[in-house]
Amino acid sequence: MTPPKKLFIKTYGCQMNVYDSERMAEALGGQGYVTTDTQDDADLILLNTCHIREKASEKVFSELGRLKLLKDERPNLKIGVAGCVAQAEGDEILRRAPVVDLVVGPQSYHRLPAMEAAVQAGARALDTDFPAEDKFEELKARPKAARGPVAFLTVQEGCDKFCAFCVVPYTRGAEVSRPADRILTEARGLVEAGVREITLLGQNVNAYHGHPGGLAGLIDDLAKVDGLERIRYTTSHPNDMDEALIVAHGTQPKLMPYLHLPVQSGSDRILKAMNRKHTADQYVDLIARIRAARPDILLSSDFIVGFPTETEAEFQQTLDLIRTIGFGMSYTFKYSTRPGTPAAEKPQLPDDVTTDRLHRLQSLITKQQRSVQESMVGRDVSVLFEKAGRMPGQVIGKSDYLHAVHVPAPVQMIGYVRRVRITTSGPNSLGGELI
Ligand code: 5AD
Ligand code: SF4
Repeated sequence: MTPPKKLFIKTYGCQMNVYDSERMAEALGGQGYVTTDTQDDADLILLNTCHIREKASEKVFSELGRLKLLKDERPNLKIGVAGCVAQAEGDEILRRAPVVDLVVGPQSYHRLPAMEAAVQAGARALDTDFPAEDKFEELKARPKAARGPVAFLTVQEGCDKFCAFCVVPYTRGAEVSRPADRILTEARGLVEAGVREITLLGQNVNAYHGHPGGLAGLIDDLAKVDGLERIRYTTSHPNDMDEALIVAHGTQPKLMPYLHLPVQSGSDRILKAMNRKHTADQYVDLIARIRAARPDILLSSDFIVGFPTETEAEFQQTLDLIRTIGFGMSYTFKYSTRPGTPAAEKPQLPDDVTTDRLHRLQSLITKQQRSVQESMVGRDVSVLFEKAGRMPGQVIGKSDYLHAVHVPAPVQMIGYVRRVRITTSGPNSLGGELI
């Protein structure tokens, strides 16, 4: 028997890339590949890339520079680029980086096995189509191998919103929803393999329309799957938070009390320039409705500072909005010019202005995050245990509110949800005791 070939996938960017990397590894499993944790013994290295900000794209070309040295030592090593940089810059990658054998976009990776065969025969392969066929249908059924208690499941891809700064509508294409029955089948398979919590993924997940009841309808059906204990979803757009989904947060016990709902800015003029199609007040009203349905929900958001023409007063409105809402955590970004997007045409702010705003934004976000974490001390939460801690006798899990919680408990607890009393709050996690 020939020994299995080894595949190393390096994943950049969002959770959907994490999911895609798993599916690519499964697809290549049929070609005799097993995954490895190190590039040193790999026969094929795939970079699953992110194009969302300039820095993310640059990382790919510097990584390819390093991989060239590895390939000089091992000429049989094959190198592929997948994901959104592949989609946006496929031809350019092949031209600029002779080390690359294969380029595959996010919608074409079901064709990886055929591409890999072509590469083994000496060709260079490029596929960045938006094919008519559904890649999830073309991919083989997912293997039943045992897995950890949490998993991602892509239910929707692409985005029709065209925010003025964002490349996603170009790299991931138009919104497409997977049919609910296929998602339920995949979810049941994951649960049989040991999964207890599923995070439904989509670039615009709450615009999901593969179920007559929308995302709320899908969540209700998923909640009926025995053994699945927790459901989350990400990432959502404020304008797609429909009434049924808001209600579900109050009525569906398996839907966790955490919502990532990016607002990007607190200034109406900037929101308009960003093409977000809602105002700051509309966002505040929406949050009030969500909190009426589920008062303890923990909210998080994304913020961009230094969007072209943003003034200090408009930046202050972002800080005001954050003070009004009170977020449990948030992601902060300096505006990054993306070629081909409408905002790229506008004059950019000086970097020192943007950096200064980023620091002030981060300090407010961190303050809120700490105070929300500290408010958890003394409370009882549910924790799904995921892995052993670094200290012996300690296991780590996530609370319903997505806080990491360290608890003295046996490793046999992994895969189970238990009530935990929170006793301490550290910089990035909580500590607690089994009740
Ligand atoms: N510059 C900075 N941040 C961006 N994001 C998307 N595009 C850009 C850009 N050009 C951020 C948004 C989005 C998150 C995934 O990435 O905040 O919600
Ligand atoms: Fe990008 Fe999200 Fe806007 Fe879509 S809704 S364009 S993915 S920022």
